Amino acid sequence: MFRQVLYHSRATREMRAEDLRGLLAQARDLNQTHDVTGFLFYIERHFIQCIEGAQADIGQLVDNIRADARNTAFSILFDRDVPTRAFIDWAMGYRAFAVDDLRDEPGFHNIHRAEDLDALATAGNAVFDLMRSFYAANAGRGF
Ligand SMILES: Cc1cc2nc3c(=O)[nH]c(=O)nc-3n(C[C@H](O)[C@H](O)[C@H](O)COP(=O)(O)O)c2cc1C
Repeated sequence: MFRQVLYHSRATREMRAEDLRGLLAQARDLNQTHDVTGFLFYIERHFIQCIEGAQADIGQLVDNIRADARNTAFSILFDRDVPTRAFIDWAMGYRAFAVDDLRDEPGFHNIHRAEDLDALATAGNAVFDLMRSFYAANAGRGF
């Protein structure tokens, strides 16, 4: 069994491209060491990330991210045991969106402004499905 966690948090300040690159490089490096896989969305100062791996590794990682000064208002959307990983090829997939990009996606029709994104706390499954559809289209081609 693997532990799979999806959480939502807010960036404490605007993340520039180089900040996001640095965060991702660090995450991918550490995740390779700990055999953690997953997917990170960055949507107008909101993070939504799925992380999956061994129970203890994910527990530690949740604690690390929750305490990380780069984000705040950390909230878990789901935390479950799964028999297989959803993102097995990716030490950390990544996509950045604007709210506008999401409007036509199922489950996101009521999101019109960045402030509405806090509603994602109730839309965990829609976010996860969107991550899975990106993964299905891109797995095998790297991140
Ligand atoms: C939004 C966000 C996502 C992160 N994702 C990961 C990740 O997938 N893997 C990881 O090891 N660290 C990730 N980090 C970094 C951790 O918070 C932490 O800096 C890292 O695990 C190293 O912790 P340590 O210096 O205490 O060992 C993320 C941080 C933020 C703000």
